[in-house]
Amino acid sequence: MSDTQNKTHSMLILPGDGIGPEVMEEVKRVITWMEENRGLKFDISEDHVGGRAYDEYGVPLADKTLQKAKEVGAVMFGAVGGSKWDGVDYDKRPEAGLLTLRKELNLFANLRPALCFEPLVDASSLKPELVSGLDIMIVRELTGGVYFGEPRGIEELSNGQRRGVNTQVYETYEIHRIGHVAFDLARKRRGHVTSSEKANVMESGLLWREEMEIIARDYPDVEYQNMLADNCGMQLVRAPKQFDVIVTDNLFGDMLSDVAAMLTGSLGMLPSASLGEVGKGALYEPVHGSAPDIAGKGIANPLATILSFAMALRYTYDCGDEATLIEDAVNEVLKDGIRTADIQQEGKTLVSTSEMGDHILAALTKLNK
Ligand code: IPM
Ligand code: MG
Repeated sequence: MSDTQNKTHSMLILPGDGIGPEVMEEVKRVITWMEENRGLKFDISEDHVGGRAYDEYGVPLADKTLQKAKEVGAVMFGAVGGSKWDGVDYDKRPEAGLLTLRKELNLFANLRPALCFEPLVDASSLKPELVSGLDIMIVRELTGGVYFGEPRGIEELSNGQRRGVNTQVYETYEIHRIGHVAFDLARKRRGHVTSSEKANVMESGLLWREEMEIIARDYPDVEYQNMLADNCGMQLVRAPKQFDVIVTDNLFGDMLSDVAAMLTGSLGMLPSASLGEVGKGALYEPVHGSAPDIAGKGIANPLATILSFAMALRYTYDCGDEATLIEDAVNEVLKDGIRTADIQQEGKTLVSTSEMGDHILAALTKLNK
C-alpha cells in the first residue's frame, strides 16, 4: 500500500441547496466505494451552507463551519442559492456563504477544466468537429476583483435617484500569483496561455495585461497572448480548440467558464477546484449551480460533482490513480449510452441521479479489475 493509502483524508462535505444534496449523495457512494475497494481512508464531516444554513443558523456560513473548513484537507461543495432567499440581504444570501469560504480560505485560483467527453460530442450546441477533443483549462482569479472590491453598495441620492456601486480592483501580487498558476499549468499541458481582460476600457484591465506580460517573460517556453474578454467569449464559441489555458479575472472568469462549460455538452459535466497556497485548504465544486427548477426530482446530473471529487483526489489527496479511475468510469458510462436528462440524446438510456451513481459504481468495479 502506498503512503497516501495509509493516510486518513479529512474532508468537509457541504451539500448546500437545490440539487446540491442530491448530487452529493452520489459522491458519498463513490467515497465509500474508494474505501472498500482501493483502501483509501476518509474522515468525513458534513454541515449546512447557503440557504439551508441561513434557515438553520441564521447565516449562510456558520463560524463553526468555517473553522472546520480551515481544518480539513478539502471541502466538497454542492451548490447554493434559490429564489426562496431572494429578499435576504447580500451579506446573508446563500451565495455569501460560498464567497466567504473562498475569501477566508484564500482560494485565489479557480481551475475550471472544460473537457469534451467524446461520447457527448453531439450534445454540444456547437458542431461536433468544433468540440471533438476539446480540452481547455480556465484559470479564474477567485478572491479579488469586482466580487470583493470596495466601495460597494446601493445609496440613495438627494435627487431621489439611487446609485449602485461596485469596484473592480486588482493589485500586482494578485495578478502575479494567478498568472504563475496559469503558466505552470500550461507547461504541463500544451504550453499556451491566453490572458483575458478589457484593457481597452479598464485601468485594472490594463494593469492585468501589463503584469501578465511581465510574468510571460519568465516562461519563454510557453506561448502567450492577450485577448479582450468580449473577443474571448466570441472566440470560445467560434473556434474553442484554439485555447489551452485561459487566465482571467473573477467576473470574466465566471462568465467565460459558463460559456466553456456549455461547449462540452452540459454544465452538468464540469468540475472545478479552488486552490490557495499549497497544503492550506481547497474547495471542490461543480460549476453548475443549485438548479432550483429541477431540485428534488432526482434527475440532476451528478457527474460534475463526482468529477470534482476526482479533482480533490488528484490535487489535495495525492491519489492521481483513483482520480483517473473515476474519469475513466465516467467516460465508460457515457460510452455505454447512459444519460441524465440534461445530456439526453435520441437512442440513449435516460437515467435518474441515483441510477447514474449505480452505473458509475459498476464501471469503477469493472475498471478496477
Ligand atoms: C460560480 C457561481 C458563483 C460565482 C455564485 C454562486 C456566487 O456563479 O461559482 O461560478 O459567481 O462565482
Ligand atoms: Mg458562475
